[in-house]
Amino acid sequence: MEQAMEMMASADEVLFPNYGKRDLAFVRGEGAYVYDRDDRRFLDFTAGIAVCNLGHAHPGLASVIAEQAKTLLHTSNLFLIEGQVALANKLVRLVSAGTPYRAMFVNSGTEANEGALKLARRYQFVSGQPQKTRVIGLPNGFHGRTMGALSVTANAKYREGMAPLVPGLETATSYEAVIDAIDDTVAACIVEVIQGEAGVRPVDREFLQRLAARLRETGGLLIVDEVQTGVGRTGTFFGFEQFGIEPDIVTMAKGLGNGIPTGAILAKAEIASAFTPGMHGSTFGGNPFAMAVANYVVDTVSNPAFLAHVRRMGAQVRRILAETYEDVTGLGLMWGFDVPDAQAWRQAAVDRGLLVTVCGPKRIRVVPPLVIDDSHVALFEDVISSIERMS
Ligand SMILES: Cc1ncc(COP(=O)(O)O)c(C=O)c1O
Repeated sequence: MEQAMEMMASADEVLFPNYGKRDLAFVRGEGAYVYDRDDRRFLDFTAGIAVCNLGHAHPGLASVIAEQAKTLLHTSNLFLIEGQVALANKLVRLVSAGTPYRAMFVNSGTEANEGALKLARRYQFVSGQPQKTRVIGLPNGFHGRTMGALSVTANAKYREGMAPLVPGLETATSYEAVIDAIDDTVAACIVEVIQGEAGVRPVDREFLQRLAARLRETGGLLIVDEVQTGVGRTGTFFGFEQFGIEPDIVTMAKGLGNGIPTGAILAKAEIASAFTPGMHGSTFGGNPFAMAVANYVVDTVSNPAFLAHVRRMGAQVRRILAETYEDVTGLGLMWGFDVPDAQAWRQAAVDRGLLVTVCGPKRIRVVPPLVIDDSHVALFEDVISSIERMS
């Protein structure tokens, strides 16, 4: 305990204060559990913020990592990386059965979105539509922290003091205003199908379909940010599959690397061709190490039996939450719910060995590893019953 206190005091002296105070630190994990220095066990319903979909210290993944570390970590994109070809083959088939797509690999969700914003503009430019430069994000959307991604992220809290943001990259004040704003100057709209950071809020299916139709009319592109909803999180490989829309560009990260930083941009082939040699790139993006991991993750998660398991576990988590809480929203293993005081609720959960994320003053999000089983769900239910008995 003393060692942990010293570590926290030292953190204040040497780290940026941007993440606020952290009162917990973990030294190891196993499956859906993480352990602190005193070997206290916590059921991890944060999964590193929807990242560790296969859980912690997954044996199959650990041997892929060890093998790749002994073979080749990095070469750069000066050379063809076989793992990129293998992974792209899988992802382009998963994103669409009929339409040809291409893939490019990056290192994070923000970076995938930044690339997608550039690609949308560049595609319009090479298609003889240079006036189409605007990209519009939805109210309450979250797409990351770089200047471009931040410019299409609505939350004022993240933008304060960062102006001027990128001209032409905008957010609208209501869903209808997004549709109304689409004209011949719009290169693309960027959406999440479930707004994770905003409290796990699915976007209305009918609205998304109208948005897609309006973009088709004007030649604007639909960018679907699957950074949080992708890689099985919603019970299908991509979240958009459940919303009846066909994206022009898809961005991915988080679960793709299960904790190894990696991301991807998928785009219809014609759109991807706008990134002619030299127009975009990344030193680390898609390196052999990240690709070995992501290939293993995608092979595992895209298995229909795995996805059926996610839906089954998700239905149980939803049932448990809906018995006690209001406004339970989400899909698969991604749920948000209302509590009277989110910080107090989170602390009560921590005291009972459960980790959750707070995503609003009265809102909790649970995004457990997708490999949870009945025993984890039973423990989750016990913790919830215990919190409710105390309140
Ligand atoms: C939907 C969405 N897009 C983008 C991002 C940014 O991803 P990263 O933190 O990997 O840059 C996040 C992160 O929470 C996200 O949820």
